[in-house]
Parts: sequence; C-alpha cells; structure tokens
Amino acid sequence: MASKDWEAVDDYFEDLLISADPVLETALQDSDAAGLPPHHVTPNQGKLLHLLIQIQGARRVLEIGTLGGYSTIWLARALPPDGYLVALEANPHHAEIARGNLTRANLLDTVDLRVGNALDLLPSLQPAAPFDFIFIDADKPNNPHYLAWALQLSGPGTVIIGDNVVRDGEVANAHSSDPKVQGVRTFCELLAAPPQVSATAIQTVGSKGYDGFAIARVTH
Ligand code: SAH
Ligand code: DHB
Ligand code: MG
Repeated sequence: MASKDWEAVDDYFEDLLISADPVLETALQDSDAAGLPPHHVTPNQGKLLHLLIQIQGARRVLEIGTLGGYSTIWLARALPPDGYLVALEANPHHAEIARGNLTRANLLDTVDLRVGNALDLLPSLQPAAPFDFIFIDADKPNNPHYLAWALQLSGPGTVIIGDNVVRDGEVANAHSSDPKVQGVRTFCELLAAPPQVSATAIQTVGSKGYDGFAIARVTH
C-alpha cells in the first residue's frame, strides 16, 4: 500500500520532471484495459532506468519480463540509433499487448520481443552477448537463475538491475514463506558472491508502494 505522501511526492516529481507522453500513457491504458496486472515500473522509475542507460552509454539491452512493454519503451528510447533491446515475455497475451505498444512507439526496429519462458530463451542469446544493461523483472522465484544467465551474458561494465527486491520490507525476513521473497533474497546473496560483481540495493517508495532495486556492475 502506498502512503498518500509517497503518492503525492511521486506525482509532484512526475509532473515536474517527466513530460507528458501519449505513447507511454496509452501503453498503460491499453495494458490496464486488457486486464494486465499493474506491475509495470512507475514513470519515475522508468525514467531512472532510461537515465541509467544513457549515463552508461549502453547499446545492447536485455529485459527479462516485459508485460505490456511500458518499461521496454523507457529502456529502448534511451538507446542510440544503433542500439537494440531483446525483450523476453512468457505470457502470449502480455506479449501481444506489448507488441501493440511497441508498434505505436515506433520501436519495432529496436526491440526484438521474444515470447516464451525466459529460461528456455536465454541460452539462445549467447550470440547477441555481451549485453551492456540487463533488467530482471519477471517471476521472482527464478531470479537466481536469471542472475546466473545475466552473468553468462555479461562483459566488463555490464549493469544488472533487479526490480522488486524489497517487497514491503519482507526481503529482510529470512523466515518468509513467500517464494518471491526467497527468490529475491537468494538473488541478493548471489550478487554478493562473485568477486567480479559490485552491487548495492536501494529502497524506493512511491505510487507503487514500498519496494526497491538491486543494482550491480560486472567489473571484470
Ligand atoms: N518490466 C515490466 C513489468 C514486468 S511484470 C514493466 O515494468 O513494465 C513481470 C512479467 O514477467 C509478466 O508479464 C510475466 O508474464 C512475465 N514472466 C513471468 N514469468 C516469466 C518467465 N518465466 N519468462 C518470461 N517472462 C515471465
Ligand atoms: C510483482 C511483480 C513486479 O514486477 C512488480 O514490479 C510488482 C509486483 C508481483 O509479481 O507481485
Ligand atoms: Mg517489477
């Protein structure tokens, strides 16, 4: 549950810093009308991912978990003209809505949307590796597997972001019986293990409640 203050502040920054954009707004409306769950990043979070890609100068982006393509549009619009994004989505209905939204955003040349279970699709991405920026935002119990693949598909300097690692603070509850919480806990523990990964996690509040991102960089 988002507190009123968090929503008001999110709205304030969104109105101030994020230009109204019919393509992004329609993407949310279409996703909602099609009955997709409201699990997309917020506008302020989408802009954060967009800025991180530009700050890094990323050209090759991988997204695991696309839903209706809202985050995908934010990510793809940050890319230079020769950039590309591979988006993985298991649910054919979600992918169909995403394709419509990416078409409206004129991003079908930039985004390679692949429909299927990410764990089945990830091995086929070896020829496209290394990716510069990887956004992990699918089924959280599989996060440890997604991280293993993200590292496989990384090179020095690759940035790996995991969404929803705080989960109303439950991430700090070692005894949680929620497989999503255990998935993000193991994910965070695995981020701490390899010597070539440097990571942190930040808590966020806003219109989507209390959650957070893990942010990692592959150093060598
Ligand atoms: N990144 C999106 C939100 C993604 S919600 C945004 O911010 O706009 C999580 C998505 O992951 C859902 O669409 C769900 O269908 C998808 N998903 C769940 N399990 C998956 C799997 N095994 N492989 C690929 N996608 C999966
Ligand atoms: C859930 C998944 C998400 O990716 C998200 O941003 C919020 C919630 C969920 O599965 O509950
Ligand atoms: Mg998410």
